[in-house]
This record gives sequence, structure tokens and C-alpha cells, in this order.
Amino acid sequence: MSHNLLKGKRGIIFGALNNMSIAWKVAERAVEEGAIITLSNTPIAVRMGEVDELANKLNVQVIPADATSVDDLETVFAKSVEILGGKIDFVLHSIGMSPNVRKKRTYDDLDYKMLDKTLDVSAVSFHKMLQVAKKQDAISECGSVIALSYVAAQRSFFGYNDMADAKSLLESIARSFGYIYGREKGVRVNTISQSPTVTTAGSGVKGMEHLLDFSNKMSPLGNATAEECADYCIVMFSDLTKKVTMQNLFHDGGFSSMGMSLRAMNQYSKGMEDFTDEDGNVIYG
Ligand SMILES: NC(=O)c1ccc[n+]([C@@H]2O[C@H](COP(=O)([O-])OP(=O)(O)OC[C@H]3O[C@@H](n4cnc5c(N)ncnc54)[C@H](O)[C@@H]3O)[C@@H](O)[C@H]2O)c1
Repeated sequence: MSHNLLKGKRGIIFGALNNMSIAWKVAERAVEEGAIITLSNTPIAVRMGEVDELANKLNVQVIPADATSVDDLETVFAKSVEILGGKIDFVLHSIGMSPNVRKKRTYDDLDYKMLDKTLDVSAVSFHKMLQVAKKQDAISECGSVIALSYVAAQRSFFGYNDMADAKSLLESIARSFGYIYGREKGVRVNTISQSPTVTTAGSGVKGMEHLLDFSNKMSPLGNATAEECADYCIVMFSDLTKKVTMQNLFHDGGFSSMGMSLRAMNQYSKGMEDFTDEDGNVIYG
């Protein structure tokens, strides 16, 4: 249902790959709420993915760009202003990739060139986006920029690997750039820390199936879906959140404030049988 929350607003959505992508859902919701947008993804993702299908459906243009390339980003912002007919009101950074995760390198055996790539694609690209936008003065007063994060930025999660470091940096960039961009241009910069979600990037995380279940059992409201994340992004792009900036906003059904839930404990105790002796005493191996 539309509330016209983004009526007359112009936006750029980075990172829609296929119809499971969080950015895909955000693009659909943004247009539904009255915005006009452009889409961007890497040239290979545009060729191999389903971005064109989304663009046709929403009647919007795709501007291919590698988000690690400042030249490419300059083109995305300049062209978007031209196509949409004015300054940009909102931007979604929905980009993440770790070659170490892809190549199954563990955190204590990282390849450092790959780590550079992880950080560049998943975090520094956010800084590049903000710097390009600010230099071009491409974002309007009260504009809103969001990047998507994960709770592993603050706490250790098995298998999240060097993406945890990338997310920590991403959240730090939102604070550091948010101060400058807010002070000088009134632009808001935030990260939304989303529940584990079944997407192409999400499925790269080790043990994703169990992580989804554990996270769901730990969260009083259950895991947040990609569609629900899109709803939250829309509110953050809208004029209803004009004074929210430099925040990492948890959108995770309450997971990040939990220690242990009854549902998770019950599940856990079932698994304890493997680790008890014949008298039922737990063996700590
Ligand atoms: N899926 C989850 O469980 C989850 C949870 C929390 C946060 N997130 C974050 O949400 C964001 C979106 O991921 P998703 O889950 O929708 O998966 P996804 O695979 O659909 O999206 C990741 C996108 O990043 C793009 N990308 C990769 N390298 C790029 C580059 N160099 N330049 C431009 N784009 C590039 C990919 O083409 C893809 O469209 C990511 O930042 C991810 O870390 C995901």
C-alpha cells in the first residue's frame, strides 16, 4: 500500500541483482511510494543479472558502475541528476562482496589482496559515493543516504569472516561522513543493520541456514525480511526522519538486544545430548 512518502523525490539505488536482493525490494517500494529513481550495478551484474528486468518493470534507467571506481560513480551521480531532472534526495548503498569468503579462506588465513578488495567493495565504496556526491553537490538539503550493515560489525559471528571488518568500517564511515555532510549540507547518513536474509550475497555466509534459524529463534519478533527492510529504508528516505543521522539502526526483530531466548535455549538443550556422559553430566570438550 502506498502512502506517497517519497512523492516527488529522486533516488539512486545501488545493488539490485535479482528479485531476492534487498535493493530490488527497495527500488520497487520507492517507486510505489512516488519516487523516480535510477538503478546501478556492476557492468557484469547488469549483463548477467536481472537488473534490466527490474528497470523495464519500473520504467527506469540503469547506469552500470563498479562502485570502487570514482570515475564510474561520478558518471552515476551526474547522469542521475540529468535523467531525473534535479538533485538527488536519497541513495541506497546495498553492496557487499568478499573474495576471501568466496574462496573459503578462513579469518586466520586471509589473503591480504583479497581483504583490500573486500574493504574497497563493501565499505570504502560508501565513502567514495559520499565524496563524489558532495563534490558534485548532487544531493539536496535534507537528503538521506543509507548503507546496509550487519550486527557482526560489533560482535563476533562464526563464518562472517572479513565482512565483519568491512561492516565495522562501513558504520564508521556513516558516522564520520555524516558529521561533515550534515553540518555542511544537511544530508543524513545512516546504516541499517539487517537480519540475516536469503539473498545471493547472504548465501555466501558459512552456515547461513543455521544462522537464519538461530537468529529467528533469538529474535522476539523473528528475522526481518527483505520486504520489511525495504519499508524501513523508505521511512529513512522520507521526510519523517529528518533529524536522524550518523546512526546504525538495527532492523533485526530485536536480535541485537537479546542474550538468550527460551526458544533458542530449548533448541540448544536438545543438541546437548551429544555432549553428556552416561550419568547425564555435560562434558566440555
Ligand atoms: N543477506 C543478508 O543476510 C544481509 C544481512 C545484513 C546486511 N546485508 C547487506 O545488504 C547488502 C545487499 O546484499 P543482499 O543480501 O541484497 O545481496 P545481493 O547479492 O543481492 O546484493 C549484493 C550486491 O552487491 C553488488 N556488488 C558487488 N560488487 C560490486 C561492485 N564492485 N560495485 C557495485 N556493486 C557491487 C552485487 O552485484 C549485488 O547486486 C550488502 O551490503 C549486504 O552485506 C545482507
